[in-house]
Amino acid sequence: MTPSDVKATLSFSDGSPQMELPLYKGTIGPDVIDIRKLYAQTGKFTYDPGFLSTASCNSTITYIDGDKGELLYRGYPIEQLAVNCDYLETCYLLLYGELPTPSQKEEFVSRVTNHTMVNEQMQFFLRGFRRDAHPMAVMTGLVGALSAFYHDSTDINNPEHREIAAIRLIAKMPTLVAMAYKYTIGQPYIYPKNDLSYAGNFMRMMFATPCEEYKPNDVLVRAMDRIFTLHADHEQNASTSTVRLCGSSGTNPFAAIAAGVACLWGPAHGGANEACLNMLNDIQQMGGVAKIGDFIKQVKDKSSNVKLMGFGHRVYKNYDPRAKLMRETCHEVLGELGLHDDPLFKLAMELEKIALEDEYFVARKLYPNVDFYSGIVQRAIGIPVPLFTAIFALARTVGWIAQLNEMIGDPEYKIGRPRQLFVGATKRDVKPIAQR
Ligand code: SDX
Repeated sequence: MTPSDVKATLSFSDGSPQMELPLYKGTIGPDVIDIRKLYAQTGKFTYDPGFLSTASCNSTITYIDGDKGELLYRGYPIEQLAVNCDYLETCYLLLYGELPTPSQKEEFVSRVTNHTMVNEQMQFFLRGFRRDAHPMAVMTGLVGALSAFYHDSTDINNPEHREIAAIRLIAKMPTLVAMAYKYTIGQPYIYPKNDLSYAGNFMRMMFATPCEEYKPNDVLVRAMDRIFTLHADHEQNASTSTVRLCGSSGTNPFAAIAAGVACLWGPAHGGANEACLNMLNDIQQMGGVAKIGDFIKQVKDKSSNVKLMGFGHRVYKNYDPRAKLMRETCHEVLGELGLHDDPLFKLAMELEKIALEDEYFVARKLYPNVDFYSGIVQRAIGIPVPLFTAIFALARTVGWIAQLNEMIGDPEYKIGRPRQLFVGATKRDVKPIAQR
């Protein structure tokens, strides 16, 4: 952080002593006002529910420019990474800060590949769930349960432990997501195969059966790999902030990532891709493109509580660059599968077109986000709708781990402990029940 020569002066109209607050500049993006001494010097807190104007940390990992619709992983634009790199190269970049050389990539891929199996005991956790349990309920349980198996890598303050925990989590998430899926359809689990790519291995664990060999479709595997890359990290979003806050207590990385899985599940966050596809199906049931106008009317009526899922974003007030890439992937996959006339894809494009011309959405700078097209392409690949967010969690695990390790590696980090503006009852005495 570079101290700025600009200072902020805080003065109070009640004659309280004014205070000078230092500013810091990042390499790009907004400067920050350092308020760490504010309470000690003024007895006052800042107030920012939802953290609209709050930087919780300094980071070198991901940068988003919401106005330009720009997303950089360690400085590299997502558009270039999505085309020139695969997901494991992106994982290496997010974890270590640089893109791997060929030999570094080979070594990293080999380490991840050799950790894709899970302990055989893990399968018994699944048996406790009903077969129709939501995969995110299962994943929250399974990821937390991993901490019970890795006592050799749960000391978050030990860099080696952080490193092996990162490799294990990246390697095992596809195996666990595929197990969660197989459990719901009553099929046997498929073990990972070490001669397949990360995404190819995942597709095989998802769709193969012991009865015949499964040949992954290269176009679909590439699309899956790109979906992983587009979801890998995204600055201090709700689930990443959850992982940081959870990890700040010194808990083990598996427990902290389980907290991130739980937070991502929400429909305002990672659950939006499932909600978006359900929304498109509902409009289709109502009558498809002809009914878009009625649906948009519902969205504009606040009392309806209906949101245009897959639209809007706390940071992007322009097009989410991931949505554009996801739409391209949609075209590729639907083309490969001969589903050009997929009614939901046509409906989504028409809905996007209408929304982008509608003053309600334009005035609120609501654009499609990563979740708007991701459901359509995953559905085309054959992923069941309830599994969409579990796949988002699979892909985001590397971002959560990289952000957690960055925090723990920062000598300045402390346990996160926000305060509050208390507006409840002032002190009063308890009356015996007979007098209440
Ligand atoms: C992800 O943070 C991240 O980086 C998240 C993520 C990541 O990679 O980690 O990018 C992944 O979570 C993407 C977002 C997925 N969620 C959805 O698609 C759900 C639908 N979107 C909304 O719930 C909403 O846009 C949020 C939650 C995404 C953003 O919420 P904000 O920033 O709090 O927006 P807001 O509520 O302040 O919206 C401003 C206005 C409001 O109207 P007014 O009160 O000004 O009249 O826009 C309206 C909102 O009601 N609005 C919407 C809307 N989103 C916002 N109206 C209709 N449909 C929507 N989708």
